[in-house]
Amino acid sequence: MEPVGDRPRGRWWTPYAGLYGTWRRLGGEKGVRVAERELAEAQREHWQRTYGEHPAMYGQEPSEPAVHAARVFRAAGAGQVLELGAGHGRDALYFAREGFTVLATDFSPVGLAQLREAARGQGTAERITTAVHDVREPLPAVDGSIDAVFAHMLLSMALSTKEIRTLVAEVRRVLRPGGAFVYTVRHTGDAHYKAGTSHGDDIWEHGGFAVHFVPRGLIDNLANGWTLDEVHAFEEGGLPRRLWRITQTLPR
Ligand SMILES: C[S@@+](CC[C@H](N)C(=O)[O-])C[C@H]1O[C@@H](n2cnc3c(N)ncnc32)[C@H](O)[C@@H]1O
Repeated sequence: MEPVGDRPRGRWWTPYAGLYGTWRRLGGEKGVRVAERELAEAQREHWQRTYGEHPAMYGQEPSEPAVHAARVFRAAGAGQVLELGAGHGRDALYFAREGFTVLATDFSPVGLAQLREAARGQGTAERITTAVHDVREPLPAVDGSIDAVFAHMLLSMALSTKEIRTLVAEVRRVLRPGGAFVYTVRHTGDAHYKAGTSHGDDIWEHGGFAVHFVPRGLIDNLANGWTLDEVHAFEEGGLPRRLWRITQTLPR
């Protein structure tokens, strides 16, 4: 038996994301600019290629936000974590080692394949499920079925402000009352803000990576109806990337 699944399973998942994908392919969406879709598709290919050429590019150690999130999730009584934009899984693997059941999603099958291989090597495969999923589509999970959601740098990808708002509304929909959401974004104080090619809406492409540099006002706006527990500024990597780590929870 394959120890780590690459297909959605269990009650978290609904089939309607697949239907939505079909609807999009048939050209049913209104108001989504062709340029946005082309950028998104180019980014997906770029991430596929990047993970292929640089396996485990973020290393094996968990990120600082994941270590923080594990503490927050444990304090909130969470048993399972949905990670969005998990990549090759440095953080999903950590959550699993910490005892959480993890559903790790990303739109790069190459990254997720690396995650599954690492999980088998670490003996955490039983606690991790992976699913290829584009966050511009509805989260394929039942309302109120998820304890905790984690997304490191995912909301700073080539997503329009409208897509980010829709995604956060989806996170809210799938989280249970009292559920916690920890996410990070690169912000407008980052050295790469306004460097490279502009795609509008504070999205800038540099070295092939398109990044949405998020302004502070949007963070507050995305927390409407949530308790905004913390906005913590930190840096990561050699550049360094300048980020905010946001912790927000739903009312019980
Ligand atoms: C900056 S990387 C961070 C990866 C991982 N969170 C980490 O910190 O190790 C962003 C990740 O988001 C994924 N991604 C970008 N746009 C996405 C989308 N629209 N839907 C799902 N995943 C996406 C990429 O494939 C990539 O793995």
